[in-house]
Amino acid sequence: MSIPDLIRKKRDGQALSDEDIRTFIQAVTSKTIQDCQTGSMLMAVWQKGMNDAETETLTRAMMSSGEVLSWPTEWAGLVLDKHSTGGVGDKVSLVLAPALAACGYKVPMISGRGLGHTGGTLDKLESIPGFNVNQSAAQIVDLLTSVGCCIVGQTETLVPADRVLYSLRDATSTVDSIPLITASIISKKGAESLSALVLDVKVGRSALFKDLESAKELAQSLVNVGNRLGIHTGAVLTCMDATIGRCVGNSLEVMEALEARKGHGPHDLLELVTTLGGVLLLINGSVSDLSEGRKQISNAVIGGTALSKFQAMMEAQGVANNVAGTLCSAHTDYYSVLGKCKYQVELATPADGVVLDVDGLTLAEVLQKLGVGRSKVGQPVNHCVGAELLVSLGQRVQRGSSWLRLHYEDPPPSPDQINRLENALTLGSHDETRHTHSSVKEMLLP
Ligand code: URA
Repeated sequence: MSIPDLIRKKRDGQALSDEDIRTFIQAVTSKTIQDCQTGSMLMAVWQKGMNDAETETLTRAMMSSGEVLSWPTEWAGLVLDKHSTGGVGDKVSLVLAPALAACGYKVPMISGRGLGHTGGTLDKLESIPGFNVNQSAAQIVDLLTSVGCCIVGQTETLVPADRVLYSLRDATSTVDSIPLITASIISKKGAESLSALVLDVKVGRSALFKDLESAKELAQSLVNVGNRLGIHTGAVLTCMDATIGRCVGNSLEVMEALEARKGHGPHDLLELVTTLGGVLLLINGSVSDLSEGRKQISNAVIGGTALSKFQAMMEAQGVANNVAGTLCSAHTDYYSVLGKCKYQVELATPADGVVLDVDGLTLAEVLQKLGVGRSKVGQPVNHCVGAELLVSLGQRVQRGSSWLRLHYEDPPPSPDQINRLENALTLGSHDETRHTHSSVKEMLLP
């Protein structure tokens, strides 16, 4: 079948055969398809969906579009990973990957860039001068041998089909599709030849899926396809209404993750890191109960071994020793290394009260326009742009005190954007906070 025939078939609601799907992915990988045709197929899948068999075939075809990594036999049962469906202020991978390495596991994390309003781990890491996310398969093996973890991107040889589809989904409003998310995430994890995988499936206002029912459907699809590929896969559904931690924006999130590895919280980030890490060790059969798994991860973070692993990972992925050393030393001036935006402005609370809510989606959408994310394929991001939340949910504040520090350059925020940010804060008269943003809603274990 020709590509227009395949697009028509999906557009008209028919299931694609294995051969149809492989033909499409082959054309994407070999770049013999036009972007407008890929975009049309993505939209047809977004609208008509895919059944379980199609989703699995799409995942396998994407995984096999490049190299599938292989490991020394003595690493059997040790190669683990975590992936999130996308959040606001989600810097969990930056803490968990080195924590797992510090516990003796191997973590070949293939991550993504910002997608829609959600941030991407690769964009965050590239705010560190010299950090190179492009690593070959042989280099990944070296990194896991010498450090134990690495965080890399898809390349021309590593899941190249996801590299193309991922960037076009942003440009075609086809991000929030269960089969496309499943194939995107699990193809990368399949190419890592993992023993076990934990998925952080975000649910809430700032997640790709807002309601528990669709997030559960996504989690089930991810868990099914992951296990069918032979990876022990589980999912944790976590609330994503506000932000994870207090910082949103690439370099600000790197600073917050470094602070977490130095034992300075924030609490919700550490809670998420230890829960996801604990579940991963449980799924892998490395521990017999969740609390034991959580403890191992927490010891690595609080005890400083995760920080040493992160320092070693930075150096092994191209960061100069003095830069990595400065970032990992106590009481460092992060801005001297990571740079700082020309302008900062603080927003003041409009009244006395208790912080009931912060709308993470609004924050992320405004920040994306100010340069944190992309609106066009391949557009550069501004690593310094971001925001620091200066208050916590449930905190009592006084009128006129600062609640948000915005870091920006050009373009400056418009009056409408400032207005949107101001409206992202909800104050009440007493503490009616019903949820914390990292709270676990449900778990799906294999
Ligand atoms: N993360 C990915 O890698 N892909 C998606 O589609 C969503 C989140």
